[in-house]
Amino acid sequence: MPQPDRQALAALYAVPSVSLAHYPTPIEEVARFRAAILSAPRLLIKRDDAISFGFGGNKVRKIEMVTARARADGADLLITTGGVQSNHCRVTAAAAARLGMRCVIVANGTPPERLSGNALLDSLFGAEVRYVASREERAPAMEDVASAWRAQGGRPSVIPLGASTPLGALGFVRAVGEMVAQLPFPPDYIFHSTSSGGTQAGLVAGCSLYQLATRVIGISADESVAGIQSTVGAIIEGIGGLLGVDGRALALSRPIEADDRFIGDGYGVPSAASREAQALLASSEALVVDHTYTAKALAGMIGWIREGRIAADQTVLFWHTGGQVGIFGI
Ligand SMILES: Cc1ncc(COP(=O)(O)O)c(C=O)c1O
Repeated sequence: MPQPDRQALAALYAVPSVSLAHYPTPIEEVARFRAAILSAPRLLIKRDDAISFGFGGNKVRKIEMVTARARADGADLLITTGGVQSNHCRVTAAAAARLGMRCVIVANGTPPERLSGNALLDSLFGAEVRYVASREERAPAMEDVASAWRAQGGRPSVIPLGASTPLGALGFVRAVGEMVAQLPFPPDYIFHSTSSGGTQAGLVAGCSLYQLATRVIGISADESVAGIQSTVGAIIEGIGGLLGVDGRALALSRPIEADDRFIGDGYGVPSAASREAQALLASSEALVVDHTYTAKALAGMIGWIREGRIAADQTVLFWHTGGQVGIFGI
């Protein structure tokens, strides 16, 4: 059996992180859901929606890595960006509150008349939100906030979109180790929602470093397959650099598999398939997925099963990346 890359894994666990939640998140068998989608392979769900901090989700694993460096740098302000209902912004605001830092969110969109969902939580966690009209204005606006803070003698830390940096993605390399310790055999497939690429980069790099044969399939929330592959590949290269392995070789060690057929009419717009997936999972298992990310990822997994691409004796793990707060957002 191929052996995990012990040196790289030792380097992985030597990287400082902040502990915000309790792990491992559960892995649950979803037999009723499996029966509901008929002739399905064995199905498991990794419950990162149940991460015990700030309403959970994949962003917590990334923020635990990124804020450790910010704290070591003496940061007193976290600045980040996303849409008005961004899960990442909500988790960043939560982390800032827990770590005694301030938080400024640069949100693209219009200020809501009434705060709801993630925007409501941003405010409860004490973040200040500045609105910009377009995605293009986000990075310069974050820089403006940072320079103004520096000019007052403060120490800002700018966290890029989704904390999808190589450092943030290390949280998901570790998450692969967590999964390995939970299961007698690794799954044949992992399906998950992919967008800014950090989650997928961590999962793919983790499967390589742990020498798993598991295929990681990212179901896109918005980007094309080519876009996802290039973003994820670049983050994996950076992960290699952080762990003292050849980043290019790590990025090429297995295909980066993505599927953009389930985006439907666009980012955040429910599709017939995402509605069906959401209703099936909720009514069979009382688990909730959101339309922007996880319902589309689940629809993608169901699509692959119905297309007959997965054998009946294989095991599929759906990595639930959270986002359930979004269903309360308007
Ligand atoms: C709930 C949820 N799932 C999945 C994703 C995609 O993760 P990533 O941005 O790391 O690709 C995001 C964020 O974009 C998210 O909020």
